[in-house]
Amino acid sequence: MAHYASTRKPGNIISAFKANTDESILERYPPLKQELLNANNLKEKLIDSWTRLTKEIENETEEIKRLGPNVIPQVEFSEIAKNGGTFPQDVAKEVKKRGMVVIRNVVSEQEALQYKKDVKEYILNHKGKIAGFPDADPQVWELYWSKSQVAARSHPNFVSVTSAMNSLWHADPETVIDLSMNLTYCDRLRIRKQGDSSFALAEHMDGGSVERWEDPEYRKCFQSILSGEWEKYDPYDATHRVNANMDLYNCSGGCSMFRSFQGWMSLSAVAPGGGTLRVCPIIKLSTAYLILRPLLKDLVETKNMCGALPGAQQHILPEFHQPLIDAVVSIPHVNPGDCVFWHCDGIHAVEECCNSLTDSSVFYIPSTPLCLNNIKYLAKERYAFEEGITPQDFPLNNCEKDFPDRAKPSDLTELGKLGMGFTPLIVDPTVTKELSEGAIKARKEFNKILFPE
Ligand SMILES: [Fe+2]
Repeated sequence: MAHYASTRKPGNIISAFKANTDESILERYPPLKQELLNANNLKEKLIDSWTRLTKEIENETEEIKRLGPNVIPQVEFSEIAKNGGTFPQDVAKEVKKRGMVVIRNVVSEQEALQYKKDVKEYILNHKGKIAGFPDADPQVWELYWSKSQVAARSHPNFVSVTSAMNSLWHADPETVIDLSMNLTYCDRLRIRKQGDSSFALAEHMDGGSVERWEDPEYRKCFQSILSGEWEKYDPYDATHRVNANMDLYNCSGGCSMFRSFQGWMSLSAVAPGGGTLRVCPIIKLSTAYLILRPLLKDLVETKNMCGALPGAQQHILPEFHQPLIDAVVSIPHVNPGDCVFWHCDGIHAVEECCNSLTDSSVFYIPSTPLCLNNIKYLAKERYAFEEGITPQDFPLNNCEKDFPDRAKPSDLTELGKLGMGFTPLIVDPTVTKELSEGAIKARKEFNKILFPE
């Protein structure tokens, strides 16, 4: 078995926001901007396209202000279960427009509170040995392998929800991706104490920053926007996402897997204003704005990429993105056991102060469909799980290696084994007859990479 370890430096969740400002890299951006403007006649179409876009954002912002947190679609898990594991059509339409959703009661309140109780005990058992942010009094813990996290990731309802999220996407039939199957991405957790104001995150986007313009495959995802026709942009087309390089500069906190949606499971009852998530619920418009902004006249000849810097996440800044910040809204009240998902290009932030009656706690768990990049990362993640070390994408802390009470592969359920790459996938015509050519290929690659002869 190959040996994989994280190549990141030790650190915490804030490492993802530290950039590499090497001038020789930044010098690439003025010619890149010219190249983008010259391709597809964008130069001639830009002003018109921008005018239409900003008008539409203004209209949508009015509606967001009117509705407040209620603009975010909410659905009961039971509605998805009743509908064969997919969103009812009217809900799906709204989720796709908003680029996010709150799914109620994915696990019971009792189960979610038990997860929290157990993980708190795990933290207490290893006092002083677990890294986190901030160093002195961590609110976000560098933990990946507590029994609670492992159980939550493979809870049958949670697995079913990740498939529902993935199925909002589509791809060309030959694209190597199976949207009906989710692989497990192992992320950390947050237990934000009442009154905390250390873990406020300003508006940002994950999934890299300059890569959206610089990587030729990632850029293809935004082709319609870069052709002056943002109205045709489809945020749910996975065709070019699967091979996009979202991390050209080894960004700590950059995600190697393709996340169709980022997400978390709530372990607390938190209302808007109580230290919760804030989002910009106009995914198509916010992405178009972000992509076009550095190409406008005032910046086109400069190195300035509007909050995108090599090796860091995309910052959303008042001087460049104020209309998007104006459209940001807190998510509605969540209870323990509710799950929240937002599109991988979604702008999000964390409220400044945790003004909650209790802590504001979540397990970060995204939806990550079966595709080649995700399988390759899963091979490393499976190894990290076996060894109890930090998964490759995260700061190399290896806090849990010697914790006897961490989860082990033997703790996985059958569903958990499948998601973590411990069980081969069935690839025979009775199972795959509904699948695309690319989905069958993805399943075969899973078996080939994770179970070599
Ligand atoms: Fe983020």
